[in-house]
Amino acid sequence: MIRSENLRSGYIQDDVEEYLYQLLPERDDVIREMEEYAQQNRIPIIGPAVARLLSLLVKVSGAKRIFEMGSAIGYSTIWLARAAGPKGKVIYTDGDPEKASRAKEYFRRAGVAKRIEVRIGDALELLKKSSGTFDIIFNDVAKSQYPAALRVALPKVKRGGLFITDNTLWSGKAVRPAAPDDADTLGIQEFNRLVYESKQLYPVLIPLRDGVTVCRKN
Ligand SMILES: C[S@@+](CC[C@H](N)C(=O)[O-])C[C@H]1O[C@@H](n2cnc3c(N)ncnc32)[C@H](O)[C@@H]1O
Repeated sequence: MIRSENLRSGYIQDDVEEYLYQLLPERDDVIREMEEYAQQNRIPIIGPAVARLLSLLVKVSGAKRIFEMGSAIGYSTIWLARAAGPKGKVIYTDGDPEKASRAKEYFRRAGVAKRIEVRIGDALELLKKSSGTFDIIFNDVAKSQYPAALRVALPKVKRGGLFITDNTLWSGKAVRPAAPDDADTLGIQEFNRLVYESKQLYPVLIPLRDGVTVCRKN
């Protein structure tokens, strides 16, 4: 059952979407509590269907070094860290210190604190400053910043690695003309154009929940 309205795509038929969520196995106590907290406090998390996709991509690619841009209370971070296993390292980033301290407590309770490094500040600047490249970069920052996030992330993904971005259909608004002051929709539309034009990326936009774009770097 869809318990949280922010999991609805806005463009998939309700019964189809209910069905997709009904199929999902129950989550453990920490993850369930985070889903409830996110719903009550209107924190937009990826939810369990997209989380399973991230987890699958980490496992099939064998990714160990992961950078997350825009982590909030750490819901997606925990799924990434669990999938990466004990040798994995996930960098959490968020501009909001209160969300970061709540996330740290969840990481401890989920048993993955040792695999996660918490960095507070602007995710784009933090990524620019970080050394080396990453097996996976997951992007979920402010939508108006998506084109800039792409520019920063591209050199930081290793060749053959993945750059994954959430909300690329934006409740269906991405496919319709945007108002000139709708910076979020315009940002997503430009991002979608840029990734499909890029010679360095092989993107697939998956219409799951709010749209997830998975790009392999050539
Ligand atoms: C959609 S939420 C992230 C949800 C998280 N990925 C999950 O699914 O559990 C977006 C978060 O990104 C943060 N954020 C937005 N733009 C940012 C930026 N440029 N740098 C750091 N954090 C940013 C916001 O504070 C917010 O907590």
